[in-house]
Amino acid sequence: MSKILVTGGAGFIGSEFVRYWLAHHPEDEITNLDALTYAGNLANLVSVESNPRYHFVKGDICDRQIVNELMKNTDIVVHFAAESHVDRSILEPEAFLQTNVLGTFNLVQAAVENKIKHFHHVSTDEVFGSLELGSAEKFTLETPYEPRSPYSASKASSDHLVRAYGETYGLPYTITNCSNNYGSHQFPEKLFGLTITNLIEGKKVPIYGDGKNVRDWLFVTDHVRGIEAVLQHGPTQETFLLGGLTKDVSNYEVISQIIRLMGKNPDEEIEFVRDRAGHDRRYAIDWSGTQAKLGWQPSVTLEEGLRQTIDWYVENEDWWRPLKEQAAGFFAQNYRKRA
Ligand code: NAD
Ligand code: TYD
Repeated sequence: MSKILVTGGAGFIGSEFVRYWLAHHPEDEITNLDALTYAGNLANLVSVESNPRYHFVKGDICDRQIVNELMKNTDIVVHFAAESHVDRSILEPEAFLQTNVLGTFNLVQAAVENKIKHFHHVSTDEVFGSLELGSAEKFTLETPYEPRSPYSASKASSDHLVRAYGETYGLPYTITNCSNNYGSHQFPEKLFGLTITNLIEGKKVPIYGDGKNVRDWLFVTDHVRGIEAVLQHGPTQETFLLGGLTKDVSNYEVISQIIRLMGKNPDEEIEFVRDRAGHDRRYAIDWSGTQAKLGWQPSVTLEEGLRQTIDWYVENEDWWRPLKEQAAGFFAQNYRKRA
């Protein structure tokens, strides 16, 4: 039986982890520390809120007192909490430095002081920067860090802190660097949620630049299973790469696929808008090392994952409509300058 402190468990991936873990690990207890920023939503956790093995604490990972108090009673930390949207990091970078860098610093410091058995840090492939379009190159554990947005720079910094605490203070850690996730409960500002909900609302889908940028897409449940495999492997001070089954699919192609799956015509629904500043061109991730060591591999194809994701947004308008309204200011600011 383990006592797990999850940070950011009210967000997209963190809430998937909490729901999954409580269902699959009946001995374990989870405390979820989440500040409930615009991206945190307790509606993601209604299915577990009355579970006696689940506890929620509203608080900031930068708060030393709360973090220290919670770690006294913790075996394992799984750290998801972050500011996570690249476009917001371009408009207002400060919160990214605060939460992603200083928040992670506060957590690793408290983890060492409280002799936590395993600190798992959830990170992104965006720390590696951008690959050439059309090349066969993929991110590996040997790829140097070359972050190009305030978001990825703050995540890179947090990865360095975790490793430095491993080297200097013996922090028993692991890190996963994962590609773009999609699935249910994703805030409707990220590409897939935005596309699906815009289509339901009868709005156009904005594609940045020429639409040829490439992302590696992983269904969120596969990400959570990857973290599970790492936690079961133990606190080995290793890093693992997690990625999906897609092979260099462009934004234009994947958006067109969603539009067709929703019974509409891509030619009529897409609007090309001005490119994102510093827009990373291509991500591709080599997760074969993780497969060899842990036996993990993604299981959900893009088409199957898209179908499930579309169905979820179609059936859960009550979940996303208020979020889009609350985020109207961000949408206006982000998309106004692109017209
Ligand atoms: P999200 O934005 O949906 O959720 C973030 C959660 O963290 C929210 O519940 C928010 O309230 C909470 N939070 C933010 N600041 C906090 C603070 N100071 N203290 C406590 N809680 C705070 O993010 P997500 O997409 O679920 O991403 C989770 C993690 O996975 C992040 O670390 C992100 O960098 C990483 N990641 C995400 C993706 C992706 O495609 N979404 C891919 C790879 C890695
Ligand atoms: P996003 O979901 O923001 O993830 P990330 O920037 O972390 O990869 O964006 C995914 C891709 O989609 C990225 O290349 C930017 C692009 N994009 C658009 O073309 N239009 C949009 O409105 C958004 C939000 C993203």
